[in-house]
Amino acid sequence: MSPIVVSGGQPLRGTIEVSGSKNACLPILAATLLNEQPVTVHNVPLLHDVRVIGEVLTSLGAQGNGAGRQHSVTIDAGAVSSTAPPYELVNKMRASFLVLGPLLARFGEASVPLPGGCAIGARPVGEHLRAMEALGAEVSQEAGLIVARAPELTGTDIYLDIASVGATENAIMAATLAKGTTTIHNSAEEPEVVDLCHFLTRCGVEIEGTGTKSVTVHGQSRISAAIEYTVIPDRIEAGTYLLALVGTGGGGRVERAEPEHLEALLLKLRDLGVVVRTGPDWVSVEAPAALQPTRVRTEIYPGFPTDLQPQMTVVLTAAHGISKVDETIFEQRLTFVPELMRMGANVTVGGTTAIIEGTPGSLTGAPVEAHDLRSAAALVIAGLMAEGETHIDGLKHLRRGYDKLPEKFAALGGNVAYVNAAVV
Ligand code: UD1
Repeated sequence: MSPIVVSGGQPLRGTIEVSGSKNACLPILAATLLNEQPVTVHNVPLLHDVRVIGEVLTSLGAQGNGAGRQHSVTIDAGAVSSTAPPYELVNKMRASFLVLGPLLARFGEASVPLPGGCAIGARPVGEHLRAMEALGAEVSQEAGLIVARAPELTGTDIYLDIASVGATENAIMAATLAKGTTTIHNSAEEPEVVDLCHFLTRCGVEIEGTGTKSVTVHGQSRISAAIEYTVIPDRIEAGTYLLALVGTGGGGRVERAEPEHLEALLLKLRDLGVVVRTGPDWVSVEAPAALQPTRVRTEIYPGFPTDLQPQMTVVLTAAHGISKVDETIFEQRLTFVPELMRMGANVTVGGTTAIIEGTPGSLTGAPVEAHDLRSAAALVIAGLMAEGETHIDGLKHLRRGYDKLPEKFAALGGNVAYVNAAVV
């Protein structure tokens, strides 16, 4: 089965608009569980993962079933009756684990199955659990479930060993209903964490240090505020389209983007010789006649995002010379490389480092398989760069994170088709 068919070999040109951020939307929808009043979230992307978090919320008794199906979603968690989301839902997506903090904080208990998700490494949840314990919860693992209990959470200092995005978000959400003040040290500074803080602030929570390595949350006894909130643009989606424009030797503009969130990528694109321009909410790129090789090392924000590493690695196959990519966040994020080599790329992988011997025009279409979301996006870019047709098995991954992808590429003159999309 090859549900994604890409016809490549032509430079992409044109303008597209970025959707709302998946990774901001997921914790914000989880955080609606903290609020006793209905909340309306705007700029919600139409994605499989967003549908899953919506189903998790309704499985717990929240009202509102538009998540992932409409751009504005109202969730009323006032009558939530369960603190145990079902395994079938949590197993579909790792981010479902983000309900742990809000459920524990509001109801004093939560039983959440250990999460599934992308196959990009072990991705443990120890930091999440240590944060809940620091707030006073008793945490145990029973039959594949994480069970956390605390009649009352108490504000404290939490030191994260790893600046985990999800653990920071779970800790912030739990701390909103803890007694007293909590400071999370070594917090993740990703824009999606900032967006969650802005959402919670709108709900009436007092938070200091938003966007820094030390976030302080002043707990309160309840959150009861009917509010509306608009999610930030998806920086990973924006980066994916910018890399596709550059990789195919074309140029164009990505609108409704936030250039400040893309700085590490834009610096690297300039290294490659790309002409980059930015405005308040747009970025434009123009590929040079010859792409220069570079070095990329993934880092926590504001470093180069791991979620754009596969797409960047693909683009570097078209540079003139040798590039090096170090993946430092996830240990299995180069699984797409053997597939890329089947398309003609010359890449050597040692551990979590890839050495890419770039040659313009080296890719040709082939049947390939994607094992995770960003690998699927990277192989779509490879297909657009390659002469001929590329068949990619992995639509279920791609649909987790890219809203209207065939339509957006069509607007750039690219040909990406989903075959048998209904049955995947
Ligand atoms: C989030 C993003 C994901 C992105 C990742 C890193 C969402 C829904 N997903 O995932 O797209 O790739 O950030 O930017 O926002 N770790 C531990 N113990 C823990 C938690 C994490 O060892 O308890 C490790 C992970 O294995 C990984 C690293 O920390 O090596 C970063 O993970 P983390 O920041 O937690 O990623 P996620 O929140 O899962």
